[in-house]
Amino acid sequence: MAREIPRTLVVGVSVVAIVILAVYLFTKLPSGGETAKVQQVSYSGGDKCATCHARVTPDIVYQYALSTMAKAGVKCEDCHVVRKDNPMGYEHEGFFITSTPTPKQCWKCHIRETEEFEHSRHAGPAWMALTGWDGFTPAQKKLTESIPELNREPNGTPVAAHNAVFDMEGQNITEAACQVCHSIGRPNKDGSIGDCSKCHLRHEFSLSQVRKPEVCGQCHLGPDHPQHEIYEESAHGVMYATQGDQWNWNQVPGRLTTKDFPAPTCAICHMSGFGGEGTTHEVGTRLSKFLFATISTDRPNAVQNRRNMEEVCQNCHTPSFVDTVYKRADSVVAFVNLKVEEASDIVSELIKGGLISSKPFSSNIDYDFFDLWHYYGRTAKFGAYMGGPDFVQWHGIYPLLRQLQKIKEEAARLREEHGQGRMK
Ligand code: HEC
Ligand code: HEC
Ligand code: HEC
Ligand code: HEC
Ligand code: HEC
Ligand code: HEC
Ligand code: HEC
Ligand code: HEC
Repeated sequence: MAREIPRTLVVGVSVVAIVILAVYLFTKLPSGGETAKVQQVSYSGGDKCATCHARVTPDIVYQYALSTMAKAGVKCEDCHVVRKDNPMGYEHEGFFITSTPTPKQCWKCHIRETEEFEHSRHAGPAWMALTGWDGFTPAQKKLTESIPELNREPNGTPVAAHNAVFDMEGQNITEAACQVCHSIGRPNKDGSIGDCSKCHLRHEFSLSQVRKPEVCGQCHLGPDHPQHEIYEESAHGVMYATQGDQWNWNQVPGRLTTKDFPAPTCAICHMSGFGGEGTTHEVGTRLSKFLFATISTDRPNAVQNRRNMEEVCQNCHTPSFVDTVYKRADSVVAFVNLKVEEASDIVSELIKGGLISSKPFSSNIDYDFFDLWHYYGRTAKFGAYMGGPDFVQWHGIYPLLRQLQKIKEEAARLREEHGQGRMK
């Protein structure tokens, strides 16, 4: 038996090893073009931040190099350097910078987008949903009060109160929960409101990324607002999943047509300029009802808003087709409203009769009622407008009816226990 390993085998193994190493290195290291881009940003226009940060945080510089802003000559300091009187600023390497650029910085170059955003429910109202007006300066409150899509009490004052679940869970929990999503509209110490980078993920600020449903799905998901899941089930979502890679994701804003997108994403229906509709960051201007509310009512500009959305649909569907979708969805809303009122009356009666406390979330029935409208009611309503039959049915109306039955039986048991509504 030859104890020596044949030379051809040694050579063969070495060649294979070198090839594997080469492939590994090739995929791990940035390609020539990408390295060039990093250098281009690091050294062009004397951007001192990028030059140093190419060593400190190469990833940030690399990502930023890919952005259209870098190509247009916008520098790190355009967003990060702030005036000395800015309470969010601090000294850094001879500059006065902020590590969290706010819409105040973006506003310098994107006035329209910033002002539309500030007047949408993505701004002030998203934060008010947690703690009412806490944390707002008078100027921030005034701006927020002027939002057309604000929901108001019958006497006209904006709906603003501490949220019971927020208070029940407390700061330590909500910091890692509610606040992560709702900070899209946080009041900032420099007087501005919100965080553009919740959608325009840093540092590429990519147009194709923000037009994709996954970006919205960071927040618009789960049992209380399953818009992303509904979209995935809809014919539109299936078109996106199966053919989206062929769509023209980088078309110039305002010029999008069905040639670029044969089916819509969240952005197309709610924000993009598409066909005759202009681009908007005021996401409420295409919505006709307050669907998130316990009982859904029409928005102040319902008729015009609905026309705006229909204008988008009608790039691809006939008016009568769209009309039918809306009529069906409106009936789902009416049905949910009726059932939520029925459950709400039962709970109010129990409180009036002293059978349960008026303190929020102090009895099982409080949780049951919350699930009824906040999970099942909302889900059915969203599913009906956005093409999700399974969400209207099996995640919506059916569990809602079952929940109503549960509440009725629990109420009957409580009444019996306490002798027909007698005070405790
Ligand atoms: C000479 C090198 C150098 C220059 C020039 C420089 N930085 Fe830095 N920067 C650093 C280093 C090192 C750190 C990390 C340590 C620290 O926080 O000081 C840092 C940290 C930061 C942070 C904080 C990150 C965090 O997570 O808190 C930001 C934001 C930042 N730099 C932005 C800038 C901007 C914008 C400029 C240009 C106006 C700039 N830097 C110029 C070296 C530099
Ligand atoms: C178009 C505006 C814009 C430009 C230009 C920009 N940034 Fe930023 N940067 C942001 C935003 C927005 C954030 C995150 C703010 C937040 O967390 O609320 C951020 C965050 C950062 C952070 C903190 C990130 C972390 O995870 O700790 C660093 C460091 C930073 N930027 C460095 C840079 C450098 C270096 C450049 C230039 C290569 C640059 N930025 C260019 C907007 C910008
Ligand atoms: C100094 C001016 C300036 C500032 C500050 C600035 N931008 Fe820009 N932004 C530009 C320019 C210039 C373009 C490129 C326009 C073009 O090429 O169509 C651009 C493009 C964009 C785009 C479109 C990207 C694309 O691919 O078409 C987005 C999104 C964007 N900016 C977001 C932001 C956000 C968010 C901020 C604040 C955190 C910000 N910008 C701050 C100047 C600025
Ligand atoms: C995963 C992200 C996310 C988390 C976590 C989250 N929310 Fe929301 N919340 C949303 C989204 C998205 C909507 C919008 C739903 C719609 O408009 O249909 C919303 C809507 C609301 C609304 C109704 C809108 C309004 O202004 O009255 C309230 C109230 C609310 N959330 C409170 C909370 C509270 C309190 C918590 C924590 C206990 C919380 N949310 C946690 C994403 C989130
Ligand atoms: C809810 C997510 C979201 C938020 C928050 C958001 N944007 Fe946008 N933005 C989008 C989408 C989606 C588009 C692409 C619209 C389209 O398809 O043409 C866009 C497009 C843009 C563009 C290019 C549009 C044009 O007409 O040239 C700019 C600039 C921009 N956003 C700036 C901002 C600024 C500044 C903020 C914060 C004040 C902000 N955005 C907040 C989703 C968002
Ligand atoms: C960081 C979390 C977050 C992201 C990302 C996000 N949203 Fe929202 N969105 C919210 C919250 C919170 C609300 C509820 C605000 C309120 O009513 O109080 C909301 C509300 C809305 C509304 C209802 C507005 C109204 O007038 O009632 C629409 C439509 C919407 N978002 C669309 C989008 C689209 C489209 C995207 C992606 C391009 C997106 N959102 C990305 C958190 C987010
Ligand atoms: C085919 C167009 C279309 C697509 C795609 C679409 N939506 Fe909608 N969306 C609608 C319509 C229509 C309504 C109900 C409008 C009304 O109130 O008249 C709606 C309602 C909403 C609401 C409810 C606001 C409230 O009053 O509570 C939110 C939030 C929302 N959509 C977010 C999203 C998100 C996030 C996506 C993607 C995951 C998405 N939508 C995809 C058409 C669409
Ligand atoms: C960019 C084009 C486009 C836009 C905008 C659009 N749709 Fe669609 N829609 C499609 C396509 C493509 C299909 C898949 C057709 C099929 O089922 O064969 C579809 C399917 C549907 C379906 C399912 C039809 C079925 O037979 O199962 C409904 C419902 C629907 N759309 C409603 C709407 C509504 C409502 C709007 C506006 C809020 C809208 N669409 C906006 C392109 C679009």
